[in-house]
Amino acid sequence: MPPPGCPAHGLGPGGLRRLYGPEADTDLAGVYEKMRADHGAVAPALLHNDVPIWAVLGHSENLHMVRTPSQYTRDARQWRAVQDGSMGADHPLAPVVTWQPMASFVEGDEHKRLRGAVTGAMAGLDHRGIRRYINRYSNLLLNDLCQDGKADLVSDFAEHLPMMVMCHVIGMPEEYNERMVQAARDMLRGTETAIASNAYIMDALMRLVARRRAKAEEDFTSNLIAQPEQLTDTEVGAHLRLVLIAAYEATANLIANALRMVLTDPRFRAQLSGGQMTVPEAIEQSLWDEPPFSAMVGYFAKQDTQLGGQEIKAGDGLIFGIAPGNVDPVVRPDLAANMQGNRSHLAFGGGPHECPGQDIGRAIADTGVDALLMRFPDVELAVDESELRWNSSILSRHLVSLPVHFAPRPPQDVMARPMARVPSARDDWQVSSPPPRPATPAQPPTPKTAAPAGPPPVPESAPAAAPVPRQGAWRRLVTWWRGY
Ligand code: HEM
Repeated sequence: MPPPGCPAHGLGPGGLRRLYGPEADTDLAGVYEKMRADHGAVAPALLHNDVPIWAVLGHSENLHMVRTPSQYTRDARQWRAVQDGSMGADHPLAPVVTWQPMASFVEGDEHKRLRGAVTGAMAGLDHRGIRRYINRYSNLLLNDLCQDGKADLVSDFAEHLPMMVMCHVIGMPEEYNERMVQAARDMLRGTETAIASNAYIMDALMRLVARRRAKAEEDFTSNLIAQPEQLTDTEVGAHLRLVLIAAYEATANLIANALRMVLTDPRFRAQLSGGQMTVPEAIEQSLWDEPPFSAMVGYFAKQDTQLGGQEIKAGDGLIFGIAPGNVDPVVRPDLAANMQGNRSHLAFGGGPHECPGQDIGRAIADTGVDALLMRFPDVELAVDESELRWNSSILSRHLVSLPVHFAPRPPQDVMARPMARVPSARDDWQVSSPPPRPATPAQPPTPKTAAPAGPPPVPESAPAAAPVPRQGAWRRLVTWWRGY
């Protein structure tokens, strides 16, 4: 038997499981399942330095927590571990836990003010125009690859597209470059150069704020400055950073995970012959199976309460367990069952802090994956699936690389109209999601009743000025394949 507290066996003081160390680094999902078996939907656990925390593993328990701001807050200053110094500045999770004047850390009226400014600025964006840019940027990236006949879809595509799009959305397309992508990645990995990378990004953002204060343009930053909430320059900069980094990290993961699924999952590959899963459906399935953020640290109890049968004390910290909640056997008795039409996963959170950028994230992923499959319909994994590797932490799980090959082909005119039919303008912007399919007996329940599957999409309409040419059989097949 290992000695008590042996880090190699994942058990710490009190026999509690560690969410760090060799076992968690190689199989965190397995650690969560052991905790579920031992304790049920809410389990005591240990973070780095053996800081105690509750891991919320149940789907409905997670939803209850994020939707009950009277009992749980995102303000880490209320966490006992912060107050007693065990969660100090040198803790590996300090960068994501340390309080900042941003929507994600505040509650009540202050949250309404800051989040209201962000959502107001998003509402003012030309969503249809952005979708055109996503397509154009996707094709620019694919032009760089197309003649080689091989690529790493993580470092050559998934990590670049969201940064290109978000630099454009916030109003600094000229700042998109390899250095910006590297800086964002470096900042999130917590390396010794993370502080310099953060400074590089903040410098670009604060210069942009100064330019837009002097002269407004049509972009997210100008919209944010113009909101009635009247954010200060510091607040504008902090929210630009939040939006840029949240969008970059989560959407890059989503694209990489969805592409892996498209390349390896027989349900998707079979669609050419049998028609089982479209791109938006693959994205949604991937949000269930491999959520871009696996967990958030965290939520903090404002009062003594109960959750999942556990006694939670005021000041306790809780992990919002997105990945374990998504595989809770109560909502997914059969993990192999298809989740088509069911959007009640936890990938975008819920309650007052639910991700306000999810439609932008979905649009970047849908359009990017779609563009890639249109350009390289013969794309195939260049290694065996078992050779794929991930970098894991409690917060997220990144595919390290996704090597593929395809037949070399010439670059394409990226200004050309990308599709025979363009999406019609919509309020909800979930333009490419297919209508939910009728539930089959294998369909799991939809517990998140307040956020059911989106409304069925309006059929695509042809642009008035550009008559749609009659589609050939291949084109019709591709159009159907893409879920339109
Ligand atoms: C696939 C992509 C994305 C995923 C999976 C994702 C996921 C999340 C999650 C889990 C949260 C936290 C919820 C909580 O605290 O309980 C969040 C918050 C947030 N996200 Fe996203 N996100 C994505 C893309 C984006 C994009 C593209 C933007 C901006 C354009 C964005 C902006 C934000 C902001 C501002 C918050 C803080 C909201 C608040 O605290 O009120 N996200 N996101």
